[in-house]
Amino acid sequence: MSNLIAPSILAADFANLQRDIEMVNNSEADWFHIDIMDGVFVPNISYGMPVLKAIAKHATKKIDVHLMIVNPDQYIETFASLGANILTVHYEACTHLHRTVQAIKAAGMKAGVALNPHTPIAVLEDIIQDLDLVCIMSVNPGFGGQSFIENTYKKTAQLKHLIEFTKSECQIEIDGGVTNKNANALIEAGANVLVAGSYVFGAENPTETIADLKNSIG
Ligand code: DX5
Ligand code: ZN
Repeated sequence: MSNLIAPSILAADFANLQRDIEMVNNSEADWFHIDIMDGVFVPNISYGMPVLKAIAKHATKKIDVHLMIVNPDQYIETFASLGANILTVHYEACTHLHRTVQAIKAAGMKAGVALNPHTPIAVLEDIIQDLDLVCIMSVNPGFGGQSFIENTYKKTAQLKHLIEFTKSECQIEIDGGVTNKNANALIEAGANVLVAGSYVFGAENPTETIADLKNSIG
């Protein structure tokens, strides 16, 4: 499985969104990471369907949508029609997670589940074989630009072990506070998709920053 970079558009310049989308299109990045926040599941509101629609119009790479919302089930079809390729819901927001995951797949998308920093990997034991991706939150969801939580390395290794043990084909994504300082260690621990927001868009040269990150993780 190759290692992927997914720039988080939350850190883009929304007044120059098309420019930033084209930057990602022309970079070595692999996916667009799109953070949808509802102000209920997380204490922040980001952007919603019209912005995703505008992004999808220009994006030439896969769209990885991270839903930080309650009741995600009611929007699964909508996100599929807006062009999401991967739809990730939070474990903590889904009472009937198995049903939600099957609905995401039935809508033609890859299904992901995100875990908050306090949620143990073990809760995924009975669903891991149905998942295409697990997103380990390495910050508390809701904001970009936060510091990386070190316990993430341990959780990544535990998830990698669970995936190997169950022979599942799930990808491991890390989201929050990713920089060149932790990227290598995360890959070594078993991750293969790194989300990076402020590290990429806050850089003087985002294209070069993506290339350096991508080359460093191989
Ligand atoms: C946090 C979001 C992240 C965030 C990452 O709730 O899920 O995707 O945009 O941003 P950085 O890389 O700045 O921590
Ligand atoms: Zn995210």
